[in-house]
This record gives sequence, structure tokens and C-alpha cells, in this order.
Amino acid sequence: MPDLNNVRSWPTVSDRMRYAVDQCMEGLALLDAEGRYTYMNQAHAAMYGFTSDELIEKSWKVLYEPNTIALIEAEYFPLLLAQGHWSGELTGRKKTGSLFSAEVSLNLVKREEGQLEGLICTCRDITNRKRLERRVKQRGSALSEAVQALKNENRARRLLEQEREKLLEQVTEGRARLQALSRSLLETQETERHKLSRDLHDEVGQLLTALKVNLQSILEEQPAAFVSVPIDESVSIVDRMIESVRSLSLDLRPSLLDDLGLIPALRWYLRRQAERLNWKRTFTAENCCTRYRDDLQIACFRIAQEALTNVARHANATKVTLRISEKGAVLELVVRDNGGGFSLAHAKTRAKKGQSLGLLGMEERARLVHGSITITSQRGRGTTVRAVFPLSPRVKTEERTRH
Ligand SMILES: Nc1ncnc2c1ncn2[C@@H]1O[C@H](COP(=O)(O)OP(=O)(O)OP(=O)(O)O)[C@@H](O)[C@H]1O
Ligand SMILES: [Mg+2]
Repeated sequence: MPDLNNVRSWPTVSDRMRYAVDQCMEGLALLDAEGRYTYMNQAHAAMYGFTSDELIEKSWKVLYEPNTIALIEAEYFPLLLAQGHWSGELTGRKKTGSLFSAEVSLNLVKREEGQLEGLICTCRDITNRKRLERRVKQRGSALSEAVQALKNENRARRLLEQEREKLLEQVTEGRARLQALSRSLLETQETERHKLSRDLHDEVGQLLTALKVNLQSILEEQPAAFVSVPIDESVSIVDRMIESVRSLSLDLRPSLLDDLGLIPALRWYLRRQAERLNWKRTFTAENCCTRYRDDLQIACFRIAQEALTNVARHANATKVTLRISEKGAVLELVVRDNGGGFSLAHAKTRAKKGQSLGLLGMEERARLVHGSITITSQRGRGTTVRAVFPLSPRVKTEERTRH
């Protein structure tokens, strides 16, 4: 081997070339016109697991499988002969029999007269590159599968979202319809009660008063001894009837609510119930206007009425407090008793089964004027009903009073 540091020690240029080719990493071989190896560098021989000596003068066919040989002869050689050059991928077979991928380039070598002298073959083992390419391809297809799955998932999610929005829309529409229905039912109920209350007061009440006057004049004109029916007893029955018609009419629609507004009506109703049931009562109105919007007044009064009716029917209380106050932008109503209390969960279950309506009615009335109800109750420690109503827009505000 020549001394690499001393160029002069290299005999000829072709020796130098041969040395360079021998050291080259790429496989290089020369073949004669019959396809036998006349030269090959170490890299070429090593690629197939042979030494150069083992392959010199051997046919190229020892390095390939029969099907590859057939392919080369049928398809690649005709191209090589036509173009003088061919390059592509081939499956090589090592001495051990194992197969590998090779990138091969073939060039024809011709004599001056055009006669074929042989072939130059360069060759590179691309097994690793192919493996990498395969892995990249696998990863690529796994990636595109994942992307597709993600797209599908997104599509499904979007569909679900649309479905959910549609359902929500339906629920919202249904709720709005129910609210409108409930509002109109309550309004109709109020109008009916108003009319009934007026009729009872104006017609039945006045007829009873006329009957009483008649009875009294009979009593004055005829001595009791000549009348077979006890007139004085009839007069007191009529009195009781007048009183109960009046009370019925007031329960249906207290005229105070229409004539004087919410605060006097609440004060009057509490006093009336307290006197009937012997409660100690406390009434407070703080920072309130005399009148509020009609729908708000009616909602607030009916909630107080139901809360006080519940105290009367269920609480067995001795003290009842009613407080109404304006706090910022809300009107707050609190009805508190010191009675026996109750289980709210139990009452709600009964209400859901339609066994009672009062608590639900209170909630509905509050909701229709955008308010809310909170009830707290403990067995043996009384009950508090708190209703809050937003005030704006207030239709009528009169002088702010402290009651
Ligand atoms: N202040 C209270 N003290 C004790 N128990 C109460 C009070 N308020 C309500 N309750 C309990 O809650 C239940 C439900 O009340 P709700 O007003 O809904 O129905 P109700 O008064 O029984 O019947 P209605 O449908 O005629 O109002 C009552 O049956 C009662 O047991
Ligand atoms: Mg009730």
C-alpha cells in the first residue's frame, strides 16, 4: 500500500485511482460483455457478504434470486441496451442467503467501434433507508388515521352539539309557551276573582242588606207574639251572612289593594288573620313606595296571602312577622312564623305529585315577575318565606314612605 503522506511514493495515476476506488464507501464493479465480474472494490463485495476474490470472474447472477434475474433480463437490460444507462432498486442476495435492498446504477462501456466491452456497476445498500422510509410511511398512515379519527370525532361532536342546541331550543320554546300559559291562567284567575268579589259585594251583599232591613221593619211593626218565625234570630243569621259574604269578597280580591296599594293591603291582611287566629303580629315596611306595578303588587300580595294561609293551616304559631322593604333595585317580602316548621324536601315531593299547590304557586307567581322565593323551615323552629322581586321598570312611584 502506498504511503498516503508521500504522493511521490504512489507509482502511477491509475494506481492512485484504483486505491481511491478501493477505499470508496459506494460499491463499484466492472463486468465484461458476458456479465462476469472483472473488478470490484471492497465495498461492493462486502455489501453481498463476499470478498472480491470470491466474485471475480463469476457471473452477476450469483448475487440475485432467480425472479430478480428474470426481471432484470426481461425489463431492465433492454432499457440499458437502448439508453446505455439504467438505474433503479434491486433486491440483492447475500452470501448467507439473506436479502437486502440495493440502489444500482449500470452504464454500458463500448469500444470505439461501438462493440460492447462491458458494464460499470455502482451499488449502494439502502436497506436502512428503506426501513426508515417504511417506518415513516407507517407513522404517516398511523398519523393520517389519527387525523381522520379526530376529524370524525369532531364531526360527531359538532352533530351532538347541534342536536343539543336543537333540544335546548325546543326546551326553551316549550318553557316560554308554558310560562305564557301560566301567566295567562293567573291573569284570568285574577280577573275572575275581581269580578266575583265585586259581584258578591255589590249584589249579594246589597240583597242581604235589603233582606235585613225588611226583617227589621217586620220586627218593628208586628209584635213578636204575632209572628210564628223568630224574626230576631233571622236578622242575626242575615248579619252573619253579610259578614261572611264580605269576608269572602275580601279574600277573593281585597279592594284595598286596588284602592290604596300594596303596603296598606298587606298590613290589613296580616291584621285580619292575626285577629282571627290570635297571633301576636309585627308588620314592618321599610323604604317602600305605596304603589308598585300592578303585576308586582298582585304577585307580592298573593304570595303573602298563601304564606299567611299556610301559617294559619299548618304552623300552629303564636307570633307572625311580615316585613316588606325596598333594598336597592329589589323589593323584598319576608313572612316569618314561630310555628312547628316542616320538611321542605317532603313538601316538595308531595307538590311534585300534585298533592299540594301552594308552594309551587308562590314560586310561579314570583317567577312570572322575574322574582324568586326562598323558604327555610326547621321542625319546631318556625318557617321563613322570603320573596325577592326586581323593581325596574317601575311604572308608578309615589312618594317614598316609612311605615
Ligand atoms: N308555615 C308553615 N308551617 C308549617 N308547615 C307548613 C308551612 N307552610 C307550608 N307548610 C307545609 O308544607 C306543605 C305544602 O304547603 P302548600 O302550601 O304547598 O300546600 P297546602 O297548604 O297543604 O295545600 P294548598 O295546595 O291548598 O296550598 C303543607 O302541607 C304543610 O305541611
Ligand atoms: Mg298552602
